[in-house]
Amino acid sequence: MSEGKRVVVTGAAGYIGSGVCRKLLSAGFEVIGMDSLMYGAAGLLPLLVTPRFALVQLDIREHSRLEQELNRIRPFAVVHLAAIVGDPACKKMPEAARETNLAATRALFGAASKNGACRFIFASTCSNYGLSGADALLSEDDALNPLSLYAETKVEAERWLIENAVAHETYILRFGTAHGLSARMRFDLTVNEFARAIAMESQFDVYDSETWRPYCHVNDFAELICCICCDTQVRIGSNVFNVGSDRENYRKIDLINAIAKATSRTPRFADIGNGADRRNYRVSFARIANELKFKPRFGVAYSARQISEALGLRLFPPHGAHHANV
Ligand SMILES: NC(=O)c1ccc[n+]([C@@H]2O[C@H](COP(=O)([O-])OP(=O)(O)OC[C@H]3O[C@@H](n4cnc5c(N)ncnc54)[C@H](O)[C@@H]3O)[C@@H](O)[C@H]2O)c1
Repeated sequence: MSEGKRVVVTGAAGYIGSGVCRKLLSAGFEVIGMDSLMYGAAGLLPLLVTPRFALVQLDIREHSRLEQELNRIRPFAVVHLAAIVGDPACKKMPEAARETNLAATRALFGAASKNGACRFIFASTCSNYGLSGADALLSEDDALNPLSLYAETKVEAERWLIENAVAHETYILRFGTAHGLSARMRFDLTVNEFARAIAMESQFDVYDSETWRPYCHVNDFAELICCICCDTQVRIGSNVFNVGSDRENYRKIDLINAIAKATSRTPRFADIGNGADRRNYRVSFARIANELKFKPRFGVAYSARQISEALGLRLFPPHGAHHANV
């Protein structure tokens, strides 16, 4: 079913993208990874020897080249992960963030539709919910409340896609905060950062320890994207889904305790109180569970053990270059 079908993955060399490419290849797709390689290509090195994989080194802000490539490739689906990711990176590169997360998303969607792509999958974020006052879990129909440039660009890109994707099959996936091992490792994500500090027995600071957020494993994102590419059901229009599971909503303090328990370590941290990041939200994943039968397999405890083991084996230099987005 997937044999010979081409899928373009933007942000292919990234933390999530490298695993998505690997998963699509194992399902039989032909995969064309597009990336400017701003954090290097380590995530893709194992795939470069795979016959059904090709890398196009491209900055998606070069709209005319992007269009030429899509015209040459004529993909069945486009998985759009390339972005300036996270509040600190967007703050540091505001112009690049707007151009990449917003203008290039529009250009990519236009070029994909013009060149016959049937499916467009856009990586958005649960950060779009920002700050919620209520205890109830937030659903896809609840109001968005972006608190940073990063979330603003994602919310605006979502709105544009919803307005323009009427006749196309478009998936807007609001990912929870990712965690777990990846060929392009990121230690600037909460679970990974805490797991590293606890594994290394380092002292660390925790801001806003009572705030809630949902977490989801990188392999589960890859599995979901692959299932969507394989799905024979056609869902025209914009399909918005929160991606994660209800039971993986954690307060930071609970996260630290879960990581410590999973790795049998004692965390050494200072609870600093309020920081600059006011995000606080608990999210419902009922829609994706019911409609796409998506059930994440890997929890926070699994990642904590794997990260601890990987650092113990010195598979990653603990503070290596390209292991954070700022
Ligand atoms: N990691 C998370 O916790 C998380 C949570 C929610 C949503 N997301 C979304 O998932 C996607 C992937 O996130 P990630 O964690 O893998 O990030 P990442 O920073 O590891 O990967 C992004 C990739 O995009 C590439 N890129 C950036 N600008 C580009 C440009 N102009 N042209 C071509 N390539 C460019 C980078 O080189 C990088 O390889 C992003 O869209 C992000 O917003 C991630």
